[in-house]
Amino acid sequence: MSKPFPDDFLWGASTAAHQVEGGTHNQWSEWEQANAERLATTAERRNGWMPAWPDVKQQAQDPDNYISGDGVDHYNLYKEDFALLHKLNMNAFRFGIEWSRLEPAPGQWNEAEFAHYRRYFADIIAAKIEPVVSLWHWTMPVWFTNQGGMARRRNLQHWRRYVRKLAEELDWSDITYVLTINEANTYSGLSYGSGEWPPQHKNFAESLYVYYNLVSAHRIAVEELRRVWPHLRFGSAHQCNAVLPARKGKLTDWLMARVQAYYWNWWYLNRINKTQDFVGINYYFTDYRRGLQLLPKNPTEPVNDLGWYMNPAGLESVITEAWRRYKKPIIITENGVADHKDQYRQWWIDETIAAMQRSMQQGVQLFGYLHWSLLDNFEWASGYWPQFGLVTVNRKTMKRSIRPSAIHLAKRIVALSKKRRSHP
Ligand code: BGC
Repeated sequence: MSKPFPDDFLWGASTAAHQVEGGTHNQWSEWEQANAERLATTAERRNGWMPAWPDVKQQAQDPDNYISGDGVDHYNLYKEDFALLHKLNMNAFRFGIEWSRLEPAPGQWNEAEFAHYRRYFADIIAAKIEPVVSLWHWTMPVWFTNQGGMARRRNLQHWRRYVRKLAEELDWSDITYVLTINEANTYSGLSYGSGEWPPQHKNFAESLYVYYNLVSAHRIAVEELRRVWPHLRFGSAHQCNAVLPARKGKLTDWLMARVQAYYWNWWYLNRINKTQDFVGINYYFTDYRRGLQLLPKNPTEPVNDLGWYMNPAGLESVITEAWRRYKKPIIITENGVADHKDQYRQWWIDETIAAMQRSMQQGVQLFGYLHWSLLDNFEWASGYWPQFGLVTVNRKTMKRSIRPSAIHLAKRIVALSKKRRSHP
């Protein structure tokens, strides 16, 4: 079989500021302080059924697990992390800019933090790694969420002012790819629908409103950055799931699968389509619909440490449908498994590469794959016990160690590329 991966394909890994930087103060870090104890005492009730529970139990029942704290100190160690990317034969990296650092009070700017991200931009370019920059990955300054965050339409003016400032203060001339909003669906769903995440509102109408406001947030970000830096290419990182009918030939299952896929995957992407240059897809899940019921798992598939059943091949149907709908280049902006024993990751990666190859052979223009994540990191309300990293981190010493599955991916990258990309 021919190798369909182009020479300039972006092979890399993803992170998010709050999950790796350490030392962030935002609405999430405040929520962690207020909820760590509760999350630790209720961990067994929520997670006790998972196969990984005996191994992770001690950590999951420790309140410290739920405090992002020093993160994995990517804020200070980012150059070391760029070196890891090189070791893994990668040429691209997704990272975030943390709004709460830059605008500690409305309209007041922290010059030292701007200087940090200026250096960061310069250093990643100097390291010849293609940056994929995330603007919004769920965390916000506390003053912004105290005013209602993304659930108040008038707050979008704050967002506009912030992005305008990013356009003015940072040098975007060597950046190409910008991700505006990460997973508007997950955020509106978990923070306002199910009420599991801050601000823990349980109000379906409000979650729809937030989802809708995030469409505007995407457009505003594109408008503000494009005005100053017209060369930039924009997309969102949107969680797209493969949604299948649980029972073959059942009309209700088929219909509900279509409804769910529309609501979760395509509604948002349809709305931003005129202002996206490429489609960014985060893929983790294949969902099975039995009428109104979302099946908790498919018994024929293994589950990862978080209890998510794994069907990496489901990526193919997601990207082929995204291509059919939008006819725009696609990049996988996240994809990976919580797997502390590193027992599934290699298989997941191989299945994913095969799914990408199949879709490219059908004509899909795919230009990159960013694995979630480069490093073990702070997995939101689950804290540090779920391990998604190609590289594991000892949080006492912050020592990084490359996992065997990462070495495997590094070898596959070389085998799949005729020559490594040479950067400007
Ligand atoms: C998010 C990441 C998260 C990952 C694994 C994605 O939904 O964007 O922040 O860590 O999934 O749960």
